[in-house]
Amino acid sequence: MTDLNHYDGENRYGQNGHRRCRSSFWIHDPEQVFSELNLREGDCFLDMGCGSGDYAIRASEIVGNSGKVFALDRWQDGIDDLTEKAGSLRLNNLRAIAADITAPLPIEDGSIDVCFLATVLHIFKLADVEGVLFNEIRRVLKPGGRIVIINCKREIQPFGPPVHMRQSPEELEGCINSYGFEKTSLADLGFNYMIQFIKK
Ligand SMILES: C[S@@+](CC[C@H](N)C(=O)[O-])C[C@H]1O[C@@H](n2cnc3c(N)ncnc32)[C@H](O)[C@@H]1O
Repeated sequence: MTDLNHYDGENRYGQNGHRRCRSSFWIHDPEQVFSELNLREGDCFLDMGCGSGDYAIRASEIVGNSGKVFALDRWQDGIDDLTEKAGSLRLNNLRAIAADITAPLPIEDGSIDVCFLATVLHIFKLADVEGVLFNEIRRVLKPGGRIVIINCKREIQPFGPPVHMRQSPEELEGCINSYGFEKTSLADLGFNYMIQFIKK
């Protein structure tokens, strides 16, 4: 039987030995997430550490053909599967790219409305990655663009990363504000929280 307290850094929550794909999509209410996200037709959405791409697919349906979705992950098999899925769903505005999000991003300057990171940041020690990560996010965002982060609450839970890997909203705010962003909202998603920042 799977030990639900075991965590290998790749979001493999599961029961009875079944390893689910890398997705936090159904851990909370996707309707609440997308209502808070408030995406519009024509928006350009960047999903960083997209995993199996459930958020990217939903975003692609919302932003439509006048918008664009980039989904990045270092997990090549996941990127290949997402590319195939987007093709079969005829989501021509979704581009999945294998990339390390802690390195310079394969995205044009000032082209993105929303940079989205769902259950990804806890994988990193912020001090090690924050410079490249948030300067790159700042570079690719349009003026007034947003960072939207879904993070595991910093508390003991029956699954997910150990507490010492989890970052509090205050910790994120202290770090991200120093890269020229301002916190605009904080929402409770149950197991996780969602925090948003705007590029100043
Ligand atoms: C816990 S999963 C979350 C997947 C998705 N965001 C979600 O919430 O459904 C974390 C994802 O981050 C990816 N990841 C970890 N480090 C990365 C890096 N340096 N660059 C790109 N992707 C990374 C992993 O491959 C994995 O797919």
